[in-house]
Amino acid sequence: MTTYPHLPLTTPATASSTSNDVTAPPRHARLGVRQRLLGLGIRALGPLSQGMRIGLRHGFESGSSLDYVYDNQAQGRLGIGKVLDRAYLNQTGWRSIRERKATLKDTLRALVALRSEPLVILDIAAGGGRYLLEFLAECPAAPVQVIAQDLAPAGLERGQARATQLGVTGRVRFQTGDAFSLKNLLSIEPRPQVVIASGLYEIFLDDLLIQTSMNQIFELLTAGDLFIFTNQPHHPQLDDIAALPNRFGQPWQMKLRPTAQMEGWARTAGFEIVSSRPADQAGLFTLTIARKP
Ligand SMILES: C[S@@+](CC[C@H](N)C(=O)[O-])C[C@H]1O[C@@H](n2cnc3c(N)ncnc32)[C@H](O)[C@@H]1O
Repeated sequence: MTTYPHLPLTTPATASSTSNDVTAPPRHARLGVRQRLLGLGIRALGPLSQGMRIGLRHGFESGSSLDYVYDNQAQGRLGIGKVLDRAYLNQTGWRSIRERKATLKDTLRALVALRSEPLVILDIAAGGGRYLLEFLAECPAAPVQVIAQDLAPAGLERGQARATQLGVTGRVRFQTGDAFSLKNLLSIEPRPQVVIASGLYEIFLDDLLIQTSMNQIFELLTAGDLFIFTNQPHHPQLDDIAALPNRFGQPWQMKLRPTAQMEGWARTAGFEIVSSRPADQAGLFTLTIARKP
């Protein structure tokens, strides 16, 4: 059984759980006047900005959208497009998501520094898997094989292209698959010792789905294996975000949850919590490491 006693990730389990946002009632798809106007503006002018163009096409929470946000290189049309794109990329949520990427990479680096045996990492909703690819490129000697799964082929294709660019194609496999299907998870070969869910759970409003997902991941793993998940306990712009279309063309709604609640569900699934820590300075995200005893 592998233990990870020295992971530098020992912030108390209740990180950010005091945010008022987490007690907010579930958002409704019905939009207010401000959101409608914002939505109209984004649909009218957004296509000039490359980032908003991608968001309007694939959904603002899609892997394709995040892949562009990670690039953080403003692009746009007619001059104004680039200015709009820079303003878009500078939004708090996107800044925090870029910091979350760095936190994920730190976590993976700390993990491989502690073990010499080969490791298989499965990301159940990887999008383009940027943090995975950069981690592989930055740790060329790490004996790590990554399986990057997602439902949306467009994000996976972006990831595949980036893997080629970074020279890590031999250490990562992109594949389509449903994060919430136990049958799919149990069919994945080779079996992972680390499962990652980043940026996934907050885009689902159904608590039971998250709890079931944690149960399934527990079943997939073996004693000593790790489950790394991110949570979003706080977001200052939830109302504005609902003006943006998600991957289904519906208002992009997110559910904020206390990290302590997520930890509780992981414990109920059978995991022990190794640590939780803030994943960004603004306190929008946390990263939890759970271990199957
Ligand atoms: C906000 S993105 C996060 C992407 C990546 N994990 C990251 O942190 O950059 C959410 C991802 O979840 C994927 N997704 C949504 N539902 C899924 C499902 N049932 N199975 C697999 N992927 C799913 C979306 O396609 C999208 O790529």
